[in-house]
Amino acid sequence: MSSPKTTRWGILATGGIAITFTKDLLVDPKTRGVNNVKHTVVAAASSSSASRAEQFLKDVGASSDAKAYGSYEELVKDSNIDIIYIATPHSHHYQNAMLCLEAGKNVLCEKAFTVNAAQARALKEKAKEKGLFLMEAVWTRYFPLSIYVRELITSGKIGPVARVLSDNSMATNPEETWKDGKHRMVNPDLAGGALLDLGIYSLTWVFQTLYHTQDPKTRKPPQVLAALKSYGATKAADEQTTIVLNFPRSDEAGGDAHAVATTSLRIATTPGGNADAPGIRIQGPKGEIQVFPPAFRPTRTKLILSDGTVEEKNWAPFPGPGAGSGWYNGFGGGKNAVGEGHGMFWEADEAATALVEGRKEGKYEGLDESILIMEVMDEVRKQGGLQYPEKIETTKYPTQL
Ligand SMILES: NC(=O)c1ccc[n+]([C@@H]2O[C@H](COP(=O)([O-])OP(=O)(O)OC[C@H]3O[C@@H](n4cnc5c(N)ncnc54)[C@H](OP(=O)(O)O)[C@@H]3O)[C@@H](O)[C@H]2O)c1
Repeated sequence: MSSPKTTRWGILATGGIAITFTKDLLVDPKTRGVNNVKHTVVAAASSSSASRAEQFLKDVGASSDAKAYGSYEELVKDSNIDIIYIATPHSHHYQNAMLCLEAGKNVLCEKAFTVNAAQARALKEKAKEKGLFLMEAVWTRYFPLSIYVRELITSGKIGPVARVLSDNSMATNPEETWKDGKHRMVNPDLAGGALLDLGIYSLTWVFQTLYHTQDPKTRKPPQVLAALKSYGATKAADEQTTIVLNFPRSDEAGGDAHAVATTSLRIATTPGGNADAPGIRIQGPKGEIQVFPPAFRPTRTKLILSDGTVEEKNWAPFPGPGAGSGWYNGFGGGKNAVGEGHGMFWEADEAATALVEGRKEGKYEGLDESILIMEVMDEVRKQGGLQYPEKIETTKYPTQL
């Protein structure tokens, strides 16, 4: 067996998810049975100061020779970097990804990929022109749990998927939690609102089960009908959005299929932090697959067939350095059990594997699918009358944000 190839990462931004991702990235891939790639962090950049980047590198446990930069412009010039992970608010993804691609760097960019589909298309074009790898970091798609669900579907276990119900909602009190309206969850200048932040996962489950599993040669984009409730305090961000989708399919493939994707900042998928009701239900004539909340990091599935068969699976704990390691990861103040990874390393493994194999796109969500999902969100925003400031909707590069 050949030895694992090392991918050298640069981290662009030092906020919450950058910390979670980078800590996961530095876990030995062998702990999850991955032997073809290894990861190292060679640099990080903060838009505010080099000292913040330095602190970040210490906090995540990067090697002491990793470089700390006080600007993203310096980071992209570092010739030791193979790929840059972008973890700024979605309003900034387009400008930041263009900066990286223009400098000849491969990119893994957080969700939502961009603010709109035009920006996503422009990034795809730029990556193609430069011969670079580009992938949206929808980590959930790379979970073994997601692979299992997609395999259940393609093996015909529940018959052709007829309907998907998918929710990703978070019971916050937005007026209290984000009082000044500046936080990226509610701030229109940062493309705030439920749709782009949380609804992307509701759509991820719809697309990975009902679209991605279809033959790429014949699958068609869905028709979309949406209701969007604006968040009163900042006016131009959604607090709740509901999307009905119709996926046209041939009669041989099961005919048209429907989905309902929902998201909210104010109500829960299941109240009180419980995960006892499925937030995602994938239904076919022979049965149903249930996925339990949260939609972005699920750990439990249930297959219920019409013949009475029930198969429950618990996917926790996720792999990691393990008990006794004294190592912790988590997100937003939440901590996983000691030694348990968050699950962001699987998307990093895929990006690194693509680099080794010379692929320019991710295996479980190519750029055309990311663009299509952005098109759906554009249509939802159009129907709901939600437009963000021009400087973050534009494809003009560079634009100062
Ligand atoms: N995959 C997931 O599970 C997951 C979870 C949460 C968030 N996300 C995505 O990751 C992205 C970042 O989210 P986050 O929760 O990490 O946000 P965050 O904690 O607010 O961090 C964002 C970072 O971006 C940088 N930044 C640059 N310009 C900024 C500006 N004008 N305003 C605010 N920050 C700015 C800052 O770092 P420096 O200036 O130091 O570089 C900041 O710390 C979002 O697109 C979000 O959707 C993904």
